[in-house]
Amino acid sequence: MAESKYRTILEAKSGELEALKDKAIKDSWQPIYHIHPQYGLMNDPNGLVQLNGEYHVFYQWYPYGAMHGMKHWAHVKSTDLVTWERLPVALTPTEEYESHGAYSGGAIKKDGQGLLFYTGNVKYEDGSRSANQCIAMLKRDGSVEKYTHNPAVRGVPDGYTGHVRDPKVWKENDTYYMLLGAQRENETGALIVYESSDALQWSFKGEVQTSLPDFGYMWECPDYFKLDGKDVFVFSPQGIKADGHDFHNIYNVIYAVGIFDVESLTFEMEYYREIDKGFDFYAPQTFQDESGRRLLFAWIGNPDVDYPSDEYGWAHALTLPRELSLEGNELVQKPVEELNKLRDQAVHFRGTLKNEEVIIDEATNNAYEINMTFREIGAKQFGLELFNSKEEELRLVFDTEKQEVRLDRSSFHHQYATEYGVVRSEKWTASNEVDVRVFVDKSIVEIYINGGKIVFTSRVFPKKDSKSAVNVFAEGSVDYRIDYYGMSRGIS
Ligand code: FRU
Repeated sequence: MAESKYRTILEAKSGELEALKDKAIKDSWQPIYHIHPQYGLMNDPNGLVQLNGEYHVFYQWYPYGAMHGMKHWAHVKSTDLVTWERLPVALTPTEEYESHGAYSGGAIKKDGQGLLFYTGNVKYEDGSRSANQCIAMLKRDGSVEKYTHNPAVRGVPDGYTGHVRDPKVWKENDTYYMLLGAQRENETGALIVYESSDALQWSFKGEVQTSLPDFGYMWECPDYFKLDGKDVFVFSPQGIKADGHDFHNIYNVIYAVGIFDVESLTFEMEYYREIDKGFDFYAPQTFQDESGRRLLFAWIGNPDVDYPSDEYGWAHALTLPRELSLEGNELVQKPVEELNKLRDQAVHFRGTLKNEEVIIDEATNNAYEINMTFREIGAKQFGLELFNSKEEELRLVFDTEKQEVRLDRSSFHHQYATEYGVVRSEKWTASNEVDVRVFVDKSIVEIYINGGKIVFTSRVFPKKDSKSAVNVFAEGSVDYRIDYYGMSRGIS
């Protein structure tokens, strides 16, 4: 009989975890500086917090292979956001109130320690489900202990289905608020709020009045924060139809900017947009670090999609930490400056392209950063090719006629999720200069355009034996300047 997918790590057979690790480590698609699981499947980032200088990142984790089963919270920490140490599993779902997994949630700091909030997922034999909101303490020594009075909130409020989860807590005017993603009984997505005076005992407050009443059937992983004088909500709605450049992944992520009144729970929304235009991006979470920066991590992946690396028994990674700011109502995402610490050798290229391609043959080990600008743009189309071998390439094309930028992964031999398309795009207004920053890590690509106003995060799985050059190309003429840096290991 197949093993139950609701087995905790405590039930591992002798040698089983070591065998899983041995298998996954052989996969050359495993990244070297993005947070990822050594084996098993990761999904959402959880419990982000900085405590006494140390950054704690937790993530959803199923140990026994590349599938969504019993979710634990795995734990890594860092003092610099780029070199990560693995810590023991933080939350193992052993209790009746979390019988089918310790699902996602956020963290706050209180009385010198961390408070972690998560959803105890409960499934019943008839296929129905419920959710309990739970708490755990993150101690100064990095250990995690469940709250003895869990669950802090048992079950879901009237008017909602069992899909209520992913608590994100913040404090305002001496009151703690817990934001949750929810599904109304009429199967539309919503955000609901609980409140508390001590962050331990909670009462239901109500639903956030957004002007998005009918926007998909479930909103997961909500976040709320103040940024540059505005209020921002982030969530991952499910069931949105693709439209123009937007919403092409199976599930998508938006940010919404406006003014939020926490007393009446009304949000005057001024603007919303997808956060990331790439193929693989979901369930982001933000936190404020001790220097006051608002930082974001997200899952580089999508639910309900099989990936080429699954056969090695591991799956997925987290984005690099990104510092957020607003320019008007536009979200700007910048990889944190600490990432410069991972740079090793640098190579610089400059030139003018005239209806041609130039191959930069530096990138053979597939862990590098490119910082580049295109100038004096007199080309209809120009751009960059990554992972370029004779057969494959990831093409980033700036199209001055269509006023769009496209990312095309159609030429790869290892394909997946093709029913959602093999090209992603975003509107882009041609100007005389474009800057592009790229991070490549084995099978991960993060592309930041115009200082982080347009971001594409994606996986690509190049053929195992393929060479991987970088090309620049132009139909017409364009000047380019590239600073190329090899990147060293940040996590083992
Ligand atoms: C989002 C999500 C969350 C849930 C978790 C379970 O990817 O579905 O809503 O808490 O993953 O792993």
